[in-house]
Amino acid sequence: MSTNYEPYVHGRSDREAERLNCQASKLAELLHQGTRYPQGSRVLEAACGVGAQTSILARNSPGAEFVSIDISPESLIRAKLRVSEEGITNVTFRQADVCHLPFGPETFDHIFVCFLLEHLPDPLHSLKGMKEILRPGGTITIIEGDHGSALLFPDSREAHKVIDCLVHLQREMGGNALIGRELWHLMTGAGFAKVAVSPRIVYADRSRPEFVEGVKNIFIAMVEGVRELAIDRRLVDNETWEKGIRDLYRTTEQDGTFCYTFFKAVGTRDL
Ligand SMILES: C[S@@+](CC[C@H](N)C(=O)[O-])C[C@H]1O[C@@H](n2cnc3c(N)ncnc32)[C@H](O)[C@@H]1O
Repeated sequence: MSTNYEPYVHGRSDREAERLNCQASKLAELLHQGTRYPQGSRVLEAACGVGAQTSILARNSPGAEFVSIDISPESLIRAKLRVSEEGITNVTFRQADVCHLPFGPETFDHIFVCFLLEHLPDPLHSLKGMKEILRPGGTITIIEGDHGSALLFPDSREAHKVIDCLVHLQREMGGNALIGRELWHLMTGAGFAKVAVSPRIVYADRSRPEFVEGVKNIFIAMVEGVRELAIDRRLVDNETWEKGIRDLYRTTEQDGTFCYTFFKAVGTRDL
């Protein structure tokens, strides 16, 4: 299988692994609410990354058998280490590209996908491929963000400019950081039935300190991750970048607010 899986906008540094772990744990209740798989069911987790969601999935559904795949061997090593350290035994890992799935038709009862479609050049094609390996009556659950959903107070032109740098760079690498709003259309377009999208909103002001910390360690850290690339590519000058990041942090102060919407969708393969 090909290992030519770069470029990947977030990179695979220790810091990014930490950010993914923080994201999964802070958002576990918000994003995993309603996702439980029955005893004996076979579940594919497509793009498990460093295993941050894997651990939550496997604990929430201890009777299900998970196959967790990712294109990155480095991330899979971290994921395997994590689940073995946690004593989780109902997960098997495998390196695979979701654009060329190495599974036969109707292999899985359910599929779980989190923060993957935003990185794919042809998400519709990949969804059609996932449908083929799902048994009739099985479900697919997809969670994606949408960086256009960030509401800031105080608002700042420069803060939106730095967020736009990430959106722009991700688009250049073939992805779409604004994909959340398209989920329903992509899933119905791929032929899934009974598609339902539930927006999941993170809202942070000083009365919700745990979310305020998440804004810093998840969202702002993600944007900061493309600093070098954005400045090298002259998408923004240094001064605007610094002000934009300062203004993002400003929303996490005593008199600030930050709001962001994730989109969670469930669809079924028709019988
Ligand atoms: C933002 S991470 C999300 C990881 C995990 N789902 C989570 O929420 O923590 C995106 C992951 O998608 C993987 N990925 C990107 N393109 C892929 C592809 N074509 N096939 C499989 N995995 C892919 C990356 O290697 C990365 O681990």
